[in-house]
Amino acid sequence: MRKKLLLGNWKMNKTVLEAKSFAKLTAPIVKMASSAGILVGVAPTYLSLDAVKSNSSGLIVAAQNCHYEDHGAFTGEVSIPMLKELGIDWVIIGHSERRQYDNETDEKCNKKIQKLLANNMTVVYCVGETLKEFEEGLTKEVVERQLRVGLKDLNSEQLRNVVVAYEPVWSIGTGKNASEEIAEDVCAFVRNIVKSMYGAVSEELLVLYGGSVKPENIAGYLSQADVDGALVGGASLKIESFEAMVKALI
Ligand code: 13P
Repeated sequence: MRKKLLLGNWKMNKTVLEAKSFAKLTAPIVKMASSAGILVGVAPTYLSLDAVKSNSSGLIVAAQNCHYEDHGAFTGEVSIPMLKELGIDWVIIGHSERRQYDNETDEKCNKKIQKLLANNMTVVYCVGETLKEFEEGLTKEVVERQLRVGLKDLNSEQLRNVVVAYEPVWSIGTGKNASEEIAEDVCAFVRNIVKSMYGAVSEELLVLYGGSVKPENIAGYLSQADVDGALVGGASLKIESFEAMVKALI
C-alpha cells in the first residue's frame, strides 16, 4: 500500500516569522496525519527553511528548488550541501512557475534530479501541460517528454526517492480544477511511463495531483487509484485549511 502525501508549496509567500508561527502549529496535525499513514509537509522559501525545520517535528520540509553545482559563481542560487546542512532532504524540481519564469528545462531538471538522488535526497518532480497544450490534446505527449528527459539515466533503486506531481498549468491558482477523471487518467499514465523506464518500482511511486486543490475537493482526488497525494499552493497557506485537508483524508 502506498502512503498518502499532502505537500504544501508556499511559493513566494510568508516571511520567516509567519513561516515560524505556522510551523509551531503543525505538531497535532502531523500527529493526526501520521496515525492515519499520511505524510505531510510544506515547502517554504529558502529563507524560512531553517525556521520551519527547527520549529516542527515530523513535518516534511522541502525546498522549492536548488542548483546542481555544489558551489561557485551562480548569483542568487542555493546548493544541495547548503540545504543538507539545514537538515533539508526534500526538494521540488521543475515546478511550472520555474519552467515558465526561470527557464527551467527538462534537461536542467534532470541534472538537478541526478545530483539530488546521488545525495540521497527526495525529489518531487513536477510535470504538466499548459492550457494551449491541453486544448490541443497534447497533455500526454508533453508529460511523457518531461518524464523521459527529466528522469533519464537513473536506476530503479533511486526511483524510491522520487515523487512525481502532475500539475496541469491551467489549473494552478485559477480555481479551474482538472476533473478527478483527468487527474486519474494522467497520474496513471505517469505511473505507466515510469514503469516503461524503470519497471516494477513504479508501483511504489507516489504520484500527486496539484492545481486548485482545497479542503472541499482533496478527498475526491485521493479516492482515485493512481492519485497518491496532492501538491497544494494557496490552500496550504492557512493552518486551518491545511488541517482541514488532512482531516478530509482521514
Ligand atoms: P494552487 O493550489 O494554488 O492552485 O497551486 C498549485 C501548485 O502550483 C502547487 O505547486
